[in-house]
Amino acid sequence: MPLLFPSFAVILPAAGSGARVGGNLPKQYLPLLGKPVLWHSIRAFSQMEECVEVVVAVNPEWQAVAEECGEGIEQMTYVAGGTERQHSIANGLQGLRTAPDIILVHDAARPCVSRWLVQQVAQTAAAYGAAIPALPIPETVKRIDSNGAIVATIPRHELRTAQTPQGFRRQLLLAAYAHAALHNILGTDDSSLVEALGHPVQIVEGEPTNLKITYPEDVRKAERILAEREHRA
Ligand code: CTP
Ligand code: MG
Repeated sequence: MPLLFPSFAVILPAAGSGARVGGNLPKQYLPLLGKPVLWHSIRAFSQMEECVEVVVAVNPEWQAVAEECGEGIEQMTYVAGGTERQHSIANGLQGLRTAPDIILVHDAARPCVSRWLVQQVAQTAAAYGAAIPALPIPETVKRIDSNGAIVATIPRHELRTAQTPQGFRRQLLLAAYAHAALHNILGTDDSSLVEALGHPVQIVEGEPTNLKITYPEDVRKAERILAEREHRA
């Protein structure tokens, strides 16, 4: 059967310490419905026939735990993480064993991403070169100064919050990482590195359920989202 969507490799940065969640266990290893967060994030991609490789960037201290999360999955590659998210992904790019046209980058801390969203991002990245999921902002947004006084009210219709997976043509993402390294650009997402090249990035509608586990209460939220999805399936 021909593939409807482009094939891709995905890089999962999973080398953070999860300081905002706290505790001894980095958030990507916390249990969600009895399995680690990373276990779910890996499967969100590996179970798709378009997925040729899953590269996980891990802190070497947690390598054995990470490998357990990918046990039985043939597309797995593990690389060492770096000091910043961007360095972890740079290592992932270097460690790729396959060379598909499309590379997705997805936070290991977003275990609830849907197959639909992954396909939309891959397809839009193939069409435009770069695509990310983004959401409108429901609240009024203010710019403040260092004393907490409002400087400006920013029209929110022209703002979006960025999610992952972010998808790129492989050569474009490699060029963006090379450019960022050369000019010491450190971004909090991959799109910003492609934007720095001057290349346009297209958005697709993100999903409110595609939350990034950031604070302790997010673990239970993610569990409810996954449980509800299992219940419906
Ligand atoms: N990440 C990474 N390498 C780093 C830092 C972060 O691979 N040096 C990963 C995290 O594991 C996570 C993703 O990047 O899957 C998004 O980062 P974030 O949510 O900020 O995770 P942490 O940095 O672990 O959390 P915190 O900022 O609260 O410490
Ligand atoms: Mg962080």
